[in-house]
Amino acid sequence: MGPGDLTSALAALPRPTDPRLLVGLDTFDDAGVFAVSDDLALVQTVDFFAPIVDDPYAFGQIAAANALSDVYAMGGEPLTALNIVGFPTDKLPMAVLAEILRGADDKIREAGAVVVGGHSVIDDEVKFGLAVTGRVDPRTMLTNAAAKPGDRLVLTKPIGTGVLATALKRADLDKQDERRLVESMASLNRVASVAARSVGARCATDITGFGLLGHASHVARASGVTLVIRAAAVPTLPGARAAVERGIRTGGAERNRHYLDPLVDWGATTPANRALLVDPQTSGGLLVAVPAPRVADYLAAVPGAAEIGEVVAPEARDLRVV
Ligand code: CO
Ligand code: CO
Repeated sequence: MGPGDLTSALAALPRPTDPRLLVGLDTFDDAGVFAVSDDLALVQTVDFFAPIVDDPYAFGQIAAANALSDVYAMGGEPLTALNIVGFPTDKLPMAVLAEILRGADDKIREAGAVVVGGHSVIDDEVKFGLAVTGRVDPRTMLTNAAAKPGDRLVLTKPIGTGVLATALKRADLDKQDERRLVESMASLNRVASVAARSVGARCATDITGFGLLGHASHVARASGVTLVIRAAAVPTLPGARAAVERGIRTGGAERNRHYLDPLVDWGATTPANRALLVDPQTSGGLLVAVPAPRVADYLAAVPGAAEIGEVVAPEARDLRVV
């Protein structure tokens, strides 16, 4: 649930009552989790969107990394994937679609999973994504609802993909920053997920459209805690802060900001930091609540990870930025 959010359309549906549904819609979690046995559950998720980069191979990689991410956010191991394609056959050559599918397939293989099929429709513009199924041990899965006061918050990728993708669309981004942006969005959250379980973390989410603070607010709500975020400790992609300072904004950030304002104690946060903290991400990192004694181990195991705050007992607002 969040800004500009369409979940109200689900409100009239009867709640599922099947006890095998371990994680459903109630906790804003990243994927549904359905128990098969005491130590085995299926993790299922789907995501698709319009291209955010011009290179079709890179777009396929990013779409796959993004779709896999919700399985990793639950601590799951991806098993199978189905391609979902909307494609304008009258406007673009099939070679473009072939490259998108090749990029996605390479990422799915890197994740140790298998593309088992898919479905395509003719559409006015390109849309691509995947439905991914994974498995998890429900006794050690990572959910939004398990953050505890005292846990340290670790973010595993820098933020800023929203403003950078917008700068790129306006041909207002240099090549090196573009390369780092694509690299970050195409990288898997696998190491971050495996390490989270191995240090005994039980709570994680991935950072996507609702921005760092939007997804942090879901954790705060679901866990009944407040999250303290140290703005200066949050890593940003090269060029992101400069893009914000040039005045580049996204519609998604505006919606996120509107949704979050009542939930956040902003303190003395600068306008640039506020814009970055609500910037909608594509294929962002994991936000993990790590038990304090294991935070050094976690940071050592996950390249690029940064400690950005901590979990405290519930305060008046779900989030406090310092
Ligand atoms: Co997610
Ligand atoms: Co998702």
